[in-house]
Amino acid sequence: MQSLQTLALGTAPTDIAKAAQILSDGGLVAFPTETVYGLGGDARNDLAVARIFDAKGRPRFNPLIIHLPSLDAARKFAEFNDTAERLAATFWPGPLTLVLPLKQGHGLSPLVTADLSTVAIRVPAHRVAQAVLTAFGGPVAAPSANPSGKISPTSAAHVAAGLTGRIDAIVHGGDCAVGLESTIIGLDGAPTLLRAGGVPAEAIEACLGHILQRGGDGPKPNAPGQLASHYAPGAKVRLNASGKEKGEVLLGFGPCDGADLNLSPAGDLVEAAANLFGYLHRLDALNADTIAVSPIPETGLGRAINDRLRRAAAPRPCP
Ligand code: TXA
Ligand code: MG
Repeated sequence: MQSLQTLALGTAPTDIAKAAQILSDGGLVAFPTETVYGLGGDARNDLAVARIFDAKGRPRFNPLIIHLPSLDAARKFAEFNDTAERLAATFWPGPLTLVLPLKQGHGLSPLVTADLSTVAIRVPAHRVAQAVLTAFGGPVAAPSANPSGKISPTSAAHVAAGLTGRIDAIVHGGDCAVGLESTIIGLDGAPTLLRAGGVPAEAIEACLGHILQRGGDGPKPNAPGQLASHYAPGAKVRLNASGKEKGEVLLGFGPCDGADLNLSPAGDLVEAAANLFGYLHRLDALNADTIAVSPIPETGLGRAINDRLRRAAAPRPCP
């Protein structure tokens, strides 16, 4: 990827306004939360979210947490049942993430949710995170601001060491008080601990008045994105196709004749990632027997795209 000028911002109102402007323009801004620094992008903007995966060098499109300044703002994106309301009222703002059913008309990029029907939401307490989120006025997708496979950053210096030249700005807001990621509770079904973190599970159990299921206890897998066939469209998927056969629609990449849709005619992997889920849905809606897909290079974001396409092409489990 090309090298970016990474702006160092402080926490003065003009700096926060600049951070919000960069987010609105589809750029990436790292900012402090009380857990770890997050790498933020507009969660409604496919290209911005694709850039997050590219900047981190993530080999997979794991679903991301969206960050909002308040419970009221969060209600626009997810369905809150009584349990969700109670946990949010008790622990937000703070180091707790809730996985909830998506609300109709949510407007989030499918890359944020990895095309699931749920969304992970967090309302951070950190003053600077609150300021950035309020100034931006929309949902911010933010995984930890470190290259994939490296330790999560708890200072602006950690972020700068890992991501300088790969993101647009870093808001320097001191060290993170909690220092480990938020606790994640799944509420799409029985309350389940999906990731231990900043809020002890015992505190959540005390609030609920019962024990949490642990990820993997229940009937559902704790990481839906790991299911080999989770991302399968209705049509079969044929990879590395050099052209279209009878009964097929073609999802192209790069210069390609006869493509029904092309992920990126210019062969840009970030653009291709941004289009991936939306285009699969559009082709699936054509009710073809098979979606054929052009070869995608196994470099940069191409690895994450191929990972997802291989899952889509994997043999389906019996219903
Ligand atoms: O403290 C934190 O949570 C930090 C700061 C920056 O807020 N963020 C963070 O995000 O740790 P990330 O993207 O590194 O972690 C997201 C986790 C992943 O383990 C992912 O599998 C899970 O959240 N997750 C996200 N959406 C989900 C969903 N719909 N269902 C199940 N798990 C989900
Ligand atoms: Mg992380």
